[in-house]
Formats: sequence, structure tokens, C-alpha cells
Amino acid sequence: MDGRLAGRVAIVTGTARGIGAAIARTFASEGAAVTGVDVLEAPGRDVADAVRAAGGVMSFARGDVADEDDVRRVVDGVLAEHGRVDVLVNNAAVQKEARLLDVTVEDFHRVVNVNLLGCLLLCRAVIPAMVERQAGAIVNLSSLNALVADPLLPVYGATKAGIIALTQNIAITYGPDGVRANAICPGDVDTEMNQAFFRAHPDPAGFRRRLEREYPLRRIADPEEIARVALFLASDDASFVSGSQVVVDGALMARIYEL
Ligand SMILES: NC(=O)c1ccc[n+]([C@@H]2O[C@H](COP(=O)([O-])OP(=O)(O)OC[C@H]3O[C@@H](n4cnc5c(N)ncnc54)[C@H](O)[C@@H]3O)[C@@H](O)[C@H]2O)c1
Repeated sequence: MDGRLAGRVAIVTGTARGIGAAIARTFASEGAAVTGVDVLEAPGRDVADAVRAAGGVMSFARGDVADEDDVRRVVDGVLAEHGRVDVLVNNAAVQKEARLLDVTVEDFHRVVNVNLLGCLLLCRAVIPAMVERQAGAIVNLSSLNALVADPLLPVYGATKAGIIALTQNIAITYGPDGVRANAICPGDVDTEMNQAFFRAHPDPAGFRRRLEREYPLRRIADPEEIARVALFLASDDASFVSGSQVVVDGALMARIYEL
């Protein structure tokens, strides 16, 4: 298949729904052979089936990104099948809404383990193969919450800030070996994760309307609008882009006051 990722081998985490599913579809439609990873087995397989039905190449591996053995098994499987990994997208994450004083140690560990340790485990597993080929692109899903705070997301925001630090570390450490690493900081995106965030407020529909009005574009993003940025960063179009955070927020942060 032709396309901006023709012949590339990609691992994308969290592909059972939302932004990860959109990234998998977009990458496959641009010629990549995609392996999707998720803890949700049935929807994960459905997404891969739909990609193949549309003529793309995609397989699915059930795996928990926070589990070292799962990550090793998935990456070893891709290397055994394809002999290489060209692109890694760390997209899987969890969000637990709670004000700082209500954060439990258990929730802290879960969010940090999935969002931050998971990202590190995947990077650690694929980078040697990228270095061997002197080429590779890593795209990490951070968030606007890494840059500005939400009262209900103290730990989530901290993990997303950590992801930017990790991304910069990879970019400077493995840049000399041809590995690029970038982070995407989306504003609100219309996914299940965001629905749960709306539901954490007393009037979810009213809260969503209010929030959409905050955006100069007067809406939140579709998952495909994030997937197209991930495509750019994963492709050779971004050959000199590394160590960056790409804010994709419909101008939300560009405004000082709404007067
Ligand atoms: N939706 C938003 O508004 C928004 C905004 C900024 C950043 N993001 C980031 O974008 C990414 C995708 O978010 P989304 O909105 O599509 O979320 P989502 O909850 O809709 O989808 C996340 C996917 O990751 C999977 N997942 C969760 N834990 C996992 C684990 N331990 N191992 C493997 N898979 C796991 C889930 O099963 C799910 O399929 C996340 O990193 C999120 O933090 C989302």
C-alpha cells in the first residue's frame, strides 16, 4: 500500500477505542503494518478486523502497558514477525478524576503505572531495535494538562508532564542514533475518557457546552484530528522535528481573557 508510512512497522497502544483507534486506522490507511495493544480484548480485535476489512494491515495483541512481561511479549512478537519497529505511539492511558486531597495511594500508583511507567516500558523495549537500524519515531500522547492544571486531575497532569520530560530525554539520548521522539498535547477530544470527565461534573451536558464555548473554535476535537498530527510526527515529513511538544487545542491556550 502507498502512503506516508508505506512499509513502516508501527506499534500503537490503547487502540480499542478513542484516539488510539483513530491513530491505528490512519496509520494503516497510510501504508503502515500496525500492531495495536490494549487491555480491552474484544473491541481491540474489532478495530483490527475493521482496519483489515478496509484493506489495511493490522494485528491486535492483548496487553497491559504497565506490565513488563506483557510489553516484552508484544514487542518480541512484532520483532519476530517483522524484524523491526519503525514507529511507536504511546497512547494508552487512564484518568482518575479526584481533587488532590481525595487522591488515594492506590489510584496514584495505577495512573502513574499505566501512563508513565507504561510509556517508559514500551520505549525501553523498542529503542534497541530502532538504534540497530539507526531510525525510529516515537510519538507520546501527553496532554494540555501537562502544561496547565485541572483541579480534578492532579496525578494525571503530573504523569503527562512526566511524559514530556521522558520524550525530551529520549530525543536527546537517542537522537544521535536516528531516533526521534515527540509529544502531543491535545485539549479536549471527544472520546470515552472525556465522557467520563464530563460525568465527573454535576451537569455533564451543561459542563460540556460551557467547556466548548471556552474554545475559540467553539468545539472540542475529533480523535481523527489528533491522529493526523500523530501521522505527521511519525512520518518523514517530520524528519527534523524531535524533542517537541505539539499543542493541539483549537487555540484554547492562546487567549488571555474572554471579555
Ligand atoms: N480525550 C481527551 O480529551 C484527551 C486529551 C488529552 C490527551 N489525551 C490522551 O490521549 C490518549 C488517548 O485518550 P482517549 O481519550 O482516546 O482515551 P480512552 O480512554 O478513550 O482510550 C484509552 C485506551 O487505552 C486503553 N488502556 C488503558 N489502560 C491500558 C493499559 N494499562 N494497557 C493497555 N491499554 C490500556 C483503554 O482500554 C482504551 O482503549 C491518552 O494518552 C490520553 O491521556 C486525551
